[in-house]
Amino acid sequence: MLNKIDNLLKETEGFLADKIDDVENFRISMLGKKGKITSLFNEFKNVPNEQKREFGQKINQLKTKALDKVNELKSKLESDIEFSSGMDLTAPAANLNLGSRHPLSIVRNEIIEIFTRLGFTVSEGPEIEDDWHVFSALNFPEEHPARDMQDTFFIEKNPDILLRTHTSSVQTRVMESQEPPIRTISPGRVFRNEAISARAHCIFHQIEGLYIDKDVSFADLKQTLLYFAQELFGHETKIRLRPSYFPFTEPSAEVDVTCSLCGGKGCNVCKYTGWLEILGCGMVDPNVLDSNNIDSKKYTGFAFGMGIERITMLKYGIKDLRLFFESDVRFLKQFKGSY
Ligand code: PHE
Repeated sequence: MLNKIDNLLKETEGFLADKIDDVENFRISMLGKKGKITSLFNEFKNVPNEQKREFGQKINQLKTKALDKVNELKSKLESDIEFSSGMDLTAPAANLNLGSRHPLSIVRNEIIEIFTRLGFTVSEGPEIEDDWHVFSALNFPEEHPARDMQDTFFIEKNPDILLRTHTSSVQTRVMESQEPPIRTISPGRVFRNEAISARAHCIFHQIEGLYIDKDVSFADLKQTLLYFAQELFGHETKIRLRPSYFPFTEPSAEVDVTCSLCGGKGCNVCKYTGWLEILGCGMVDPNVLDSNNIDSKKYTGFAFGMGIERITMLKYGIKDLRLFFESDVRFLKQFKGSY
């Protein structure tokens, strides 16, 4: 029996394998339930008492050797597999895929930053509003088409509750809770019952501006918007104001900037006019001030409102507004603004 142990020791020491399966077969043949070493343990009871000690030590030594051998070969072959599968364990770790800000957030933050430099605060209001804050307090006549079912999402059970169609509702909220001087901008999401296309969506974003104080004039409005346009689109940018109409401002204007893509020469984005419309504005109508308990004899103010999608499209030359809402990483990862 001692011989048998010695032979098994030699067999173990000399065992080599280049496949994990062979190592496993070796383990089973030695240490499995019916393995050679296991059966030695079964024979142990027949060994005369005085030899038990010597046999015991040898068998245990053999068992340890066999286990070590199996483990050593297995780990060697496993690491060989890693290398042969092309995995380079010394290679530097793959880059973490960093996300990027949504282009609308980049532009919104940029606009906020420009106006905070001029001393404007940021204010917000609810997206689900009532008729008063969206329309009535802003001097919308009862029969004004903007109240029409086609533009506004009303809550069926209570038509007094609606999704705000513009951030001008935050003007009302600010005026009813603050005393002039008021200088604030209000970014937010707005909703209109419109068919979705490359140029329109039923959900979009606006930024509202409101400035109320003593002696605020149209010249202040114009200069504020010129500064804004040049900060956002570049210092060469010019603006022009065209007369317009909004119920809550008088006089009202629409503002164009020189096309930043062609520098005003004319291209397909500005439809060969050299100008791009970016916002609506005007002097706050005295009726609006009075509706909101601000003395229109003492105070004047200006307001403006712009669509963030539109400005982002103009700034980056994006042709389809729907891209903003599709969450397509191939589109989104192109925008690496610092904001
Ligand atoms: N609320 C207007 C709109 O959504 C924009 C605007 C705001 C115009 C403030 C004038 C003053 O079209």
